[in-house]
Amino acid sequence: MAGAGLIPPHGGTLINRIETGGKSGAYTGSDPSLVLTERQQCDLEMIAIGGMSPLTGFCNEQDYNSICEKMTLADGTVWPFPITCAVDQATADGIKEGAKLALLDDGRRLLGYLTVEQKYPHDKAKQAAACFGTTETEHPGVKVLMDEGDVCLAGPIEVVCAKYDADFEDFRLTPEKTRARFQELGWRTAVGFQTRNPIHRAHEHLTKCALEICDGLLIHPLIGQTKPGDIPPDVRMNCYKTLIENYYVKSRTVLAVLPAAMRYAGPREAILHAILRQNYGCSHFIVGRDHAGVGKYYGTYDAQKIFDTLPENGLKITTLNFEHSSWCKTCEAMVSDKTCPHGPEVKVFLSGTKVREMLAAGQKPPMEFSRPEVAEILINSMK
Ligand code: ADX
Repeated sequence: MAGAGLIPPHGGTLINRIETGGKSGAYTGSDPSLVLTERQQCDLEMIAIGGMSPLTGFCNEQDYNSICEKMTLADGTVWPFPITCAVDQATADGIKEGAKLALLDDGRRLLGYLTVEQKYPHDKAKQAAACFGTTETEHPGVKVLMDEGDVCLAGPIEVVCAKYDADFEDFRLTPEKTRARFQELGWRTAVGFQTRNPIHRAHEHLTKCALEICDGLLIHPLIGQTKPGDIPPDVRMNCYKTLIENYYVKSRTVLAVLPAAMRYAGPREAILHAILRQNYGCSHFIVGRDHAGVGKYYGTYDAQKIFDTLPENGLKITTLNFEHSSWCKTCEAMVSDKTCPHGPEVKVFLSGTKVREMLAAGQKPPMEFSRPEVAEILINSMK
């Protein structure tokens, strides 16, 4: 149930495709089966728990083309990314349209079922150009896409167990649960913060500025598939917990994990991230510099500008845009070009690469970049 008073889910209805009482465990049934990739497992879970409302399954060809060409589902609902179940040609040939396909994890345990209503060609080049703005496989999201199969299977899903041996059980709140939590805390507005990094001072600054105008904050780290080199979720979770313990107001902050896969698609992914947070009950969503970007593929503020291209009322959630923030030694505060007149010579800008080098050498990043408690956890994790 979407909580009364909170923002409605995208498309109006909070989807729930979890079959309670369904059979889970090692798959012994006679239906045809498919072991899902890591990406597909993340997407399946996100659809099942309602994070991807209004989707009820893997997208069909009409939606696929409409998403690529117009950033909407075929019915006109804003949707920036096809959520597909692609398989190779030989596998597709063995699956009949109308079949009930058992979906398995890597341990061949039953996750759920896909009723295959349609099979269609996976136009990866078209999707890459439309959704990532590039077809280069150096781009980590394009690489995952290009490694996928050539045929998409579409249809509704039912899930019996979204995830076995799930990490962070206490923080794995479904949209229904975050909505209930916001209501218990008496929040009417909540701002969602997407992150795939430890929270550094700049991130902290954005979240606290946003908290000045919203009732509460959902710190919502993405813990699904990421690219090699990103800091693992267990280390990040320790950083978030320590930071909240020491620097955030408990009654104003909820920490929960987002079990989605990262696509590194910059602008289009920012829209997806905003939709997911609306489904979790957030009225506002933070978009900073180079949101969900990678390398030099996207302009610093492209992920903010893309929201201006959406039809009016296309999204109910409101984005809060932030300029590039850094520490100014003269102001002795976190600032941006909007709030500080001083030049780059008095600013502490540290790149992710530089910080990783410092951590690997056992050096603490400066206070102006990272809280000491967070730096400590990161250094220990490198040992
Ligand atoms: S992301 O891939 O999830 O976007 P990250 O965890 O680094 O990466 O960023 C989380 C959010 O903080 C994004 O909205 C991003 O734009 C924003 N952000 C990160 N660093 C800064 C910064 N120095 N100034 C402004 N916004 C930032």
